[in-house]
Amino acid sequence: MTGLVIENLSMRFDLPNGTSVQALQDVSLELAQGELLSVLGPSGCGKTTLLNIVAGFLAPTEGRITLNGHRVTGPDAERGMVFQQGALFEWMNVRENVSFGPRMRGLREKDYGANVDHLLNVVGLRDFMEKSVYELSGGMQQRVALARCLANDPDVILMDEPLGALDALTREKMQSLVLKLWKETGKTIILITHSVEEALLLGERLLVMAPRPGRIHREYRLPFADMGVSADLRQVKKHSEFAARREEILGMIWDMEEEIMGRTEVAS
Ligand SMILES: Nc1ncnc2c1ncn2[C@@H]1O[C@H](COP(=O)(O)OP(=O)(O)OP(=O)(O)O)[C@@H](O)[C@H]1O
Ligand SMILES: [Mg+2]
Repeated sequence: MTGLVIENLSMRFDLPNGTSVQALQDVSLELAQGELLSVLGPSGCGKTTLLNIVAGFLAPTEGRITLNGHRVTGPDAERGMVFQQGALFEWMNVRENVSFGPRMRGLREKDYGANVDHLLNVVGLRDFMEKSVYELSGGMQQRVALARCLANDPDVILMDEPLGALDALTREKMQSLVLKLWKETGKTIILITHSVEEALLLGERLLVMAPRPGRIHREYRLPFADMGVSADLRQVKKHSEFAARREEILGMIWDMEEEIMGRTEVAS
């Protein structure tokens, strides 16, 4: 089968003091090629752990992941990661950062050059390709990180709060860019966010996770990502269903947080 299949994934961290944390319990999920999934949930519900396992940075305690029919056992360029801060190479200019993956694969400028220039164009950085990383704003750095990820032509793009550190206006522009890239490239994307609005806007599918143990609480299929490809995101947010879903999910997460606080108070 093509796509990403996550089967009965569990992750337990054993701590030095003899206790353990069940970060994920029995998480199963299938993503077809080209689907865009946003993941939302209270702090500590296992979002990053899930992404790290899909990236191959962590081996799960139980369960397995397959991508296009083969088992995922470690990191690979087929699964690209974009972090909250760009994690760019400070000593390379913008174009060198974006060319890094192809260069590491032994390709020559004549093989990758045109694609790198195309990607720099798509993310709006053509005029900045000679700039150093420190000369760029936070939003520009995230554009470089996105282009660098795409230059490897991954099947799946994993993003852990990629827009979390940006100001509101830049964030909105980047949300539109993510939607544009999704439609243009047909990549499968998993995007973690703390923002309910962002999860609604960018999630063709939206997963709400619950903590202790980290698990899937609820899943939605939503029309807003498709709408946002061609419409202004502010117009999409005015949709009556958008407001209703936002309230519903905010309430859901609020209740989870309350429950966690309650348990903590009882425990102490
Ligand atoms: N390497 C580790 N060793 C021990 N415990 C860990 C480790 N990584 C994560 N955990 C624990 O696993 C749980 C899930 O953590 P994770 O970072 O996946 O949560 P998250 O949903 O990404 O949270 P946030 O929204 O704050 O980023 C937490 O209780 C965390 O303390
Ligand atoms: Mg996290």
